[in-house]
Order: sequence, then C-alpha cells, then structure tokens
Amino acid sequence: MVEARLKGGVGAAIPHDSAHLHVSGEATYTDDIPEARGTLYAAIGMSDRAHARIKTIDLAKVRTAPGVVALITAKDIPGKNDYGPVVADDPIFATAMVQYFGQSIFAVAAKTTEQARRAARLVVIEYEDLKANLTAKEALREQSFVLPTERLVRGNPQAAIASAPHRLQGRIKIGGQDQFYLEGMIAYAVPKEDGTMLVYSSTQHPGEVQHQVAHALDVSAKDVVVECRRMGGAFGGKESQPGLFACVAALLAQKTRRPIKLRMDRDDDMLMTGKRHDFETEYEVGFDDEGRILGVDFVLAGRCGYSADLSGSINDRAMFHSDNCYYLENVSILSFRCKTNTVSNTAFRGFGGPQGMMGIECVIDEIARHLGKDPLDVRKHNFYGIADRNVTHYHQPIVDNVIHDIVGQLEQSSDYHARGKAIRAFNAGSPVLKRGIALTPVKFGISFTATHLNQAGCLLHVYTDGTLMLNHGGTEMGQGLFVKVAQVVAEELQVDIDRIRITASDTSKVPNASATAASSGADINGKAAQAAAIALRERLREFAQSRAGTSCLSQQPGPSRRQDD
Ligand code: HPA
Repeated sequence: MVEARLKGGVGAAIPHDSAHLHVSGEATYTDDIPEARGTLYAAIGMSDRAHARIKTIDLAKVRTAPGVVALITAKDIPGKNDYGPVVADDPIFATAMVQYFGQSIFAVAAKTTEQARRAARLVVIEYEDLKANLTAKEALREQSFVLPTERLVRGNPQAAIASAPHRLQGRIKIGGQDQFYLEGMIAYAVPKEDGTMLVYSSTQHPGEVQHQVAHALDVSAKDVVVECRRMGGAFGGKESQPGLFACVAALLAQKTRRPIKLRMDRDDDMLMTGKRHDFETEYEVGFDDEGRILGVDFVLAGRCGYSADLSGSINDRAMFHSDNCYYLENVSILSFRCKTNTVSNTAFRGFGGPQGMMGIECVIDEIARHLGKDPLDVRKHNFYGIADRNVTHYHQPIVDNVIHDIVGQLEQSSDYHARGKAIRAFNAGSPVLKRGIALTPVKFGISFTATHLNQAGCLLHVYTDGTLMLNHGGTEMGQGLFVKVAQVVAEELQVDIDRIRITASDTSKVPNASATAASSGADINGKAAQAAAIALRERLREFAQSRAGTSCLSQQPGPSRRQDD
C-alpha cells in the first residue's frame, strides 16, 4: 500500500513561505502597503550636537516650508514623552537638552517625503554645548552609567591569581557594528474610527510598539493595533527602537487625522538607531604550566549610549558568556553599563554574548602565547568537564556536554595540526603577509535572560472547508519563522502545509507577545502553535465522536506522513 504523504511537516525541506513573493518582488513590506487617501509623509528634526542645552528653537521656517501640513514637538504629545522599553529614559522628542548627535527634537508632516525632509532642515536651534563623553573609558572615568554596576563572583579569584604559577593582565577593545537591515526603519500610522489607531511597523516586537504608541497618544492598548507582515531584516536592530518611529507617525496621525508614513532616510536611520555595544574589557588571570585557568578577574565596560534601552540584559548576557566553554573556578566579573553621549546601543545578534566570549577567548590566546603552546591545547585544558568542573559561574549545571567529542572530531576532520604546521612554515618565510588558523568553540545561551519573556501565544482558526489560518506572536524578518511554525501545525494536525494560511503578526490577534529575539522565536511560538493545534484537534475529535457515536477515533495523530519519510 502506498502511504499518503504529508506535505511540509516538521523537518521537511520546503521553501520559505514567501520565497516566490521575495523573488518576484510581490512580497509586501511596510512601504509597499497601498496608501490610504490623504496620506502625509513625515520627517524628524534631529540634534546636530552630542550633548547640549537647547537655548532656543525657531521653527518658523519649518512651519511655512512648501508642502508642510503639521509640525509637532514634545509639547504636542498628549501622553508620555517616552518610548523606553524598560526604563523611561528615551524621550520621543528632546526638550531642554540633547544627549546625542541625531536625537529627535520635532517632526514634520508634509505632502511628500522630500518636502518633509527639506522642511526639517530649516530649523534654527541655539545650543549651549556641554562636555560630551563619547567612549566607555571616558564614561568610566566620570562614573557615568545608565544602570547600576553588577558584579558576579565565584570562589576567590584574587587569591587564586596571586598564588598562580603564571599571571597575565591586559585589555581588549571589542568594536560594535550596525545591524544594517536592508529595509530601513518605517512606520505607517492610519487613524481609524473613534480615536483608534492602526500602525504598520517594521518591528520585532509589535506588542511593545502598541504599548509605546498607546502611552504617547494617551489612549489605552485596546485602541492601538500594530501589524507587521514581514521585515526586510532586523538582526536585533528592530527589537526595541522601532517604537520611536511608530510613536512619531502615530502622534502626527492623531494630530492631523490623516495617515502618516515615516520612512527613514538610511543615513538618518544609522544616526538615530543603536548598534552593537562596543566593550572595553580588562582582565587579570592566573594559570598553571598547562594553561589551566586558576583565577580570572574581568572588568567589562559596555558603551550603552545615552539611555538604558536593553543594555541591562545585554551586559548581563556578556557576564553570563564570559566563561564561553570553560570552567572558571575562581572568577570575578564586574560590569559597568557606561552612559555616553552617543546613540543608545541596542540588541544585535548575540546580544552581549559575543562580547563576553571575546574576553575569555583573548585571555586563552594570551596564555597560549605566554606558554608557547598551541591555543587549542589550552582551550581543551579549560573545557567544562563531564562529571565534575561542570557548573557555570551562575550556578547552571552543564548537561549533555559534547564539547570534547565535537572539538576532537573537528581537530581531525579539519586537519588542524598539519594546517597549523604549514601556516607556521609559510609565515616564517613571509615577512608581510601572514596566515592564521583557530579552532574556537562557542557555548551560547538561547532564550531570554528575563525568563518571564520565554512565552508565546497562537491563534489558529479552522474553516469549514478544512483550511486553517495561523497567527502567533512571532515576527518574520526573513529567518523563516512563519513557515517553521506552520510546519508544526501541519505535523500536529496531519494536514498539508498548503492548507495553512500564514498571516501577519498583529496585536489584535495575539496580544502581549514577547519580542522575536533571543533565539527563541521558533521554540516558543512553535510550542504555542502546537498547543493550539492539539486543542483544536481534541475538540474536533470529541465533536466527531459525539456525532458518530463511537470512540474509535484515535486520540493521537496517526504516524507521521512526512514527505521526506
Ligand atoms: N533579552 C531580551 N532581548 C533579547 C535577549 C534577551 O536575553 N536576547 C536577544 N534579545
């Protein structure tokens, strides 16, 4: 008998649900949504000082510029002048003082984007410049922080370092990067009846944007809907900061009663939005003749920018990743969350993890150099153990530890030692061009460190023709989350994937969802979808049983009919 095949269940290698739309140009991004009649276009007026008191602002020329319909400053915000995701320290519009170059001060709506952008430049601002701290080091010197300093200690690092056969100290500068999503920041706010607002936002966190907009407009969450079908990339850059653009668009829409589109110019987007936190890391380490670390002391200074944004969790994560794959019996990590007069740094893939790992990896390399050993040997000496030396500095037991096996296999399959030898021979005869080789492991903690965020929701409809509509709290940024979650539903209900319509993230369908972040999107939304599918299947089963008067229907789905079985 030929078994029927399920199309697109869990594990099936199927295309991205929007691949055909991506390649044909039909995929609808926020800027592609057909515009409602009367749409106006917005631009933001920005500070051109890093740190200054605003003495006077003259907006007369902005107001009378060609095409301008409306202008707003902080005075026009009916609700809260803030879009901070955790701490209320991110003003939508600066008032008495600007704290970074590019900070928003006012916004203008005009008949075209070009007119709005030209008008915004006509402002005349008189500033009194203040001293600006631009680097983490300067902030540290002045004890300028966005959040309290944290310390994590295990054992007695100072004593272990002091009594170690070898000691080293040093400092590492770890640079930041811009997320460089292809689709820039954008929001399209459409006023609806009875004071309600629909906001299309390119965001990893529609629920947070909903709350930020509601607070700014002084309405309640029920009066704001935020929708995002897809983003053209995000990489963490759209985890917390799309709120600014959504609030500005919604405030102008509320004031003018007209739809407002705010599409950021790429240069302005880069000026106004945060990047990866760059770090200045100092260390002191004590170790034995094999390179085994006996004690290590880290001081991490993360450049957060002018506000807290997500810097608490990012710097926490750097602390939690300062061990990478290594058992640190005696360790101290002191973490400074440095306040600088620069844009507020934010989430970026890895979210502080890479910065923490870079510290210990550089330490290991320095130890190897000092002892004249291969760095891989030093790494292996320090790996977490299987039966002992297997609890992290934050008290998590390491289970399923495969590091020894994996690195052993990679050492063989990559021909690490022979290649190293060849590279050393090459370098000996090449004074300028040098080659290198490294085998560097990574242990990364997925899921939110604020553990209550590790939850999701799903709305699943079954229509009478047997097709389904799927909605969940996750957002699609090209990573393929939507199709993965649909595969879970297909598998659980044993239906072909083309019977499932995947729909836009929408706060009116699934409320209060976490950001799509922390490598958690597929796990938490997939599980929510699975729970929804099971609930529906069970209800349908009970109904069918009651109609058929029989209990012969299986409680469980049949054996998986995967296409790739
Ligand atoms: N918390 C909040 N947001 C995040 C995290 C986290 O741990 N990781 C990535 N984005």
